[in-house]
Order: sequence, then structure tokens, then C-alpha cells
Amino acid sequence: MNRQLNRQSFARAHSAMAAAAADEGAVQPAVPEPCNGSGPLPFVWSLDRSSDVGRALLAASRRLREAGSDVPQLDSVVLMAHVLGVSKTWLYAHPSRQLTEGEIEHYEGLVRRRMCHEPVAYLVGYKSFFGLDITVDNQVLIPRPETELLVERVLACARELVHEDRPPRIVDVGTGSGAIAVALAVSLPQAIVYATDVSDSALAVAAQNVWRYGVGEQVQLLPGNLLDPVPGPVDIVVANLPYVASEDLPHLPEQVRDYEPVIALDGGPGGLSVIGEALRSVAEQPCVREKLPPGSRIYLEIGAGQGQALRGLVEQFLPEAQFSLLLDYADLDRVAVITL
Ligand SMILES: C[S@@+](CC[C@H](N)C(=O)[O-])C[C@H]1O[C@@H](n2cnc3c(N)ncnc32)[C@H](O)[C@@H]1O
Repeated sequence: MNRQLNRQSFARAHSAMAAAAADEGAVQPAVPEPCNGSGPLPFVWSLDRSSDVGRALLAASRRLREAGSDVPQLDSVVLMAHVLGVSKTWLYAHPSRQLTEGEIEHYEGLVRRRMCHEPVAYLVGYKSFFGLDITVDNQVLIPRPETELLVERVLACARELVHEDRPPRIVDVGTGSGAIAVALAVSLPQAIVYATDVSDSALAVAAQNVWRYGVGEQVQLLPGNLLDPVPGPVDIVVANLPYVASEDLPHLPEQVRDYEPVIALDGGPGGLSVIGEALRSVAEQPCVREKLPPGSRIYLEIGAGQGQALRGLVEQFLPEAQFSLLLDYADLDRVAVITL
């Protein structure tokens, strides 16, 4: 409580300083302040207390650009829309809407956290994915647009099964937020989807998304390693497992490296350790292999440039399988398809 009061009076003092500053939204001299409990902010930034929406957006986007955001205007608008509970278009139509003190404080807090590179998706609590608003927190990877390609390909394959009157049985391995599993279930009501993860806290987020989109009867969340918890045979395995090489982790952008869970990123030396473990389990563990009947398919998201290394793993573990690579819109290796 005391800490909260101190923070409030601290914020008020700096707000007063900011109001006096000639430049709206001025950066004050370096004064450490907690950054969402995860480290000190290198600066304090405050809005003029008489700011309206338009002036606040301008000041915030200026500061976010200086702090290194690639899309400062978009960030400032998304955060403001979240604070006011309105759409982005509403904001553009109401630039002279006056902000209350509470709204200003809320907005300042979010902008400061964004200046520390905290991802916007964690600040607002969701990320758009495949037309859905997927709930996220810092226990799960933020779903990426490139993963939509994986969903599209799996859906195309699953729809063929539906045409043959076979309800597709799919497992999403390493489900994280449940983005892939929920997108598949929403798009294909005939599908039965298992979703596994070793992280219980990730599965708790996935459960929120399953509930939010009303697909609890289709999607079964299963804690455990890779394919181990899957109860029976499936037609399709889809997996966006960690594939960043451990040696590359320190070089990731700050907003990824400092905020997203390591367990969702770290693919071991070279990046293909977890995927390799999954392929090895299919090859060597009869209790896993029996869940993948002949003709079943495995769709894997991989990193740019990992295609040939993965081809080598497939030749090593599953020499009888067919292997193909799909490129993303930037012509980079993105999805590997293995047909057993
Ligand atoms: C890159 S994230 C992908 C999350 C989500 N599928 C997506 O595409 O947004 C990888 C996920 O795999 C999970 N994971 C890592 N190792 C695993 C393993 N051995 N078995 C199951 N899940 C694993 C992590 O906890 C994380 O949630």
C-alpha cells in the first residue's frame, strides 16, 4: 500500500513537472522508476494534464519513436483505444475528447511500459490471430501472423477429410495461448482438436481462449511432453514448437528476448532440438507412433533457413516419409509438411 501511495505521489510530482514543461510529453531527467516490477525505466515521461486525445496521441507516438518502436503511431493508438475502451476509428473521429486524470495516468503507465519495449499485446491482453482476439499474457508466446499460414494449410488438409465424411482429429503440440487449436476449432466445427503443452501456465491461458470462443466441446487441453498426452490416433499433427537457436536468443529484439517466455522460444543448439525430439519420439516410441497411422500428416512451423536441416532430421528418423517445404510471403522456409 505504501509503495502504491509513494508511486502515486511520485507520479503526481512528475505530472506537475510535465505540465510546466514547454514541450508536451517532455522526457524528464533520468529518475529510476519501476517498469512493471521488472526493472528500472531509464526515464520518466508524463503528459500535460489538460491533454485531449489528439495531443496525447501525438506526444506518445513521438516518445515511442524515440524509444525505438517500429510503429509508434499504431502503438499509441492501440494503447489509447484500450484505455478508453473504444475502437481505433473512434479515436480518429474524436481527437478533441478531453482525458480524465485517471485515463491520463492509465495511458502514461502503458506508454512508459511500451517505452521499456514491453509488447503491446501483453499491455492490452490480446493479439489478433486468424480473425480472433486471442487472450495473451507473459506466460505465452504472442501468436505471430506467419503462423496463420500453418493454420491455413492444416485447414485445407482437414477440409479434405471432412469432404470424405471423416471428422478430422488434430493435435496442436505446444499450444501456448491455444491460438492454433482455437482457430482450427472455430473454422472447422467438425474437427476434434487435442492441444498439448508442457507449461501449465500456458494451458491456463489456452483455457481462457477455449472458453472465450465456446469450443470446449471440440478442444481438449492436455498437459505433457509433445505427443505423450494424446489419447488416441490423429490425422494431423500441427506444431509451432520453439525453434530459435539458443545461441541466437541474446540477439533477439528486446521486446521478444526480455518479455516472451524462454520455454516458447528456445529450440536448443541450432534451434531444432525440440522438433527433433518430437520426430525421434514418432520414430522410436511405439506408443507415440501408433497415434500416427499411415497417411497422417505433420505440419511444423520452422525458422527461415531451417528447411534443409529439418529435411536431414526427417531422413534420419522417418526415412519412409514424404517431406515438403512451404515458403511464406517473404519466400522464406516457414512450414514443413511430413506425410507418414
Ligand atoms: C513457439 S510457442 C507456440 C505457441 C502457439 N502454438 C503459437 O503458435 O502461438 C511454443 C510452445 O511450445 C511449448 N513447448 C515447449 N516444449 C514443449 C514440449 N516438449 N512439449 C510440449 N510443449 C512444449 C511451450 O511451452 C510453448 O507454449
